[in-house]
Amino acid sequence: MGSCPLVLVFPPPGLPNWSVHTQTIAILDFGSQYTQLIARRVREMNVFSAVLPCTTPLDEIRALGPIGVILSGGPSSVYDSDAPAADPGLLSLGVPTLGICYGLQFIVHSLGGKVRSAPKREYGPAEVLIEDGSSRLLAGLPSSLQVWMSHGDEALELPSGFRRIAASSNALAAIEDPGRRIWAVQFHPEVHHTPLGPQILRNFVFSICGASGDWTPAHFIESTVAGIREKVGSGHAICGLSGGVDSSVAAVLVHRAIGNRLTCVFVNNGVLRKNEFISVQKNLRERLGLNIVAVDASERFLSKLAGVTEPEKKRKIIGAEFIAVFDDEAHRIACETGGVDYLVQGTLYPDVIESTSVRGPSQTIKSHHNVGGLPEHMKLRLIEPLRDLFKDEVRRIGRDLGMPEGILGRQPFPGPGLAVRILGEVTPERIALLQEADEIVVGEIKSAGLYNSIWQSFAVLLPVMSVGVMGDQRTYAYTAAIRAVHSEDGMTADWVPLPHEVLKRISSRIVNEVRGINRVVYDITSKPPGTIEWE
Ligand code: XMP
Repeated sequence: MGSCPLVLVFPPPGLPNWSVHTQTIAILDFGSQYTQLIARRVREMNVFSAVLPCTTPLDEIRALGPIGVILSGGPSSVYDSDAPAADPGLLSLGVPTLGICYGLQFIVHSLGGKVRSAPKREYGPAEVLIEDGSSRLLAGLPSSLQVWMSHGDEALELPSGFRRIAASSNALAAIEDPGRRIWAVQFHPEVHHTPLGPQILRNFVFSICGASGDWTPAHFIESTVAGIREKVGSGHAICGLSGGVDSSVAAVLVHRAIGNRLTCVFVNNGVLRKNEFISVQKNLRERLGLNIVAVDASERFLSKLAGVTEPEKKRKIIGAEFIAVFDDEAHRIACETGGVDYLVQGTLYPDVIESTSVRGPSQTIKSHHNVGGLPEHMKLRLIEPLRDLFKDEVRRIGRDLGMPEGILGRQPFPGPGLAVRILGEVTPERIALLQEADEIVVGEIKSAGLYNSIWQSFAVLLPVMSVGVMGDQRTYAYTAAIRAVHSEDGMTADWVPLPHEVLKRISSRIVNEVRGINRVVYDITSKPPGTIEWE
């Protein structure tokens, strides 16, 4: 294989694609559960925002050249020994700055004011009175506002130059020092319980920071495609396609930049949904023109899975086998093309933020397998065109690229596929049963017009045999569980109370049409304490 070069340099991890964005609002994360929400609110105004750990060195923030800085909230008190802190030099950069909740307290504390533990904590809705309507931050707002408060500390004395511009019955609610270009609010303008919060953020982003609002899908596509074209030059790239939204949009963007010098590898691991191996190829090759190598490796996967019942072991086998298959294909493609230089991945922004956040990576409950874990010897350079985007932004980009709703609207599907929805051993017979049952669940949910409003809906096959009766015949067969959940990001989820009629049709169709399943049950567990997948 010496003449088929695949070994190149790994990129330094975590470098964003910021060069493709115009104006940026930097959001410093002090650990609030709402930090990502602030970023989204800014982006909804067509202004790019980047979340950085609050400890980011001043030089790095300066190099980013933000038009404004937002300091997020956070669970700590500025007096905690391990209180998260930014470089106080940030506050004398002269860049417009907005502190939110802990951000306000950090500003007050850092500039010589006084913060104390409030005699009365404020959690939940509150009413705020605007005391000075001339503040640019609060321009155009009524004199009284409904807001969402969530703090235990409060600012007692303001640093010199600051003045109070709004207050609740209990504490100050907003302050400013326009001379230093610093504003701060004690409440959370980013949550929907603060109905006029978007107006406050708009005032900050447009009126104070002077944003032009030109970060649109068209602009993103144009600059990303140009950036990839320049980066890849005459090189070759490969991409592991799953058929899901992220890898498909990433592949279409790169294809637009370098055409057939991108080869997409789509692997049938034997645990895809019914007809998925064919339909994904149809959608992406025939409708979008991608250069796809489809590898049917079902037998390889299924022989490795035979006899295995332990969930984590199943995941590990599928993850390792995927890498082995992808590795084989990549070498073959490298031989054909004279070398492969780049690997395209559909990494999204929440993964990037999670890995650098002050809270640190969240605890792993299940080992999620993605194309990420490629072997060390495959040192390809990464192209991650979506690493600055949230999921809904990826869908917007996909729409602008002319991709079909059938791909963009797809509910998430786990890398280990139906294997984590077949409890116990994965056998060809069980896969076929689950494919049939799952097709009925998804089909009925689509017919009822519910598919797009549900995060995930699917069937699970339980290796539990029970007695039934069909016609005059006794049956003894498997059980299917129906799972449908609402979720924002898969981290937490609520089970969906599907309409009775839909449940009735699903149950009756599965029992009548899928020979081998004679009982249907409904999973009414939320996450936590359950997980979305059963394994
Ligand atoms: P759980 O079951 O952990 O799932 O509540 C949360 C979300 O992650 C998806 N999931 C996976 N996605 N590879 C993936 O790409 C995986 O191994 C994997 N396991 C779970 C799951 O479908 C849900 O959306």
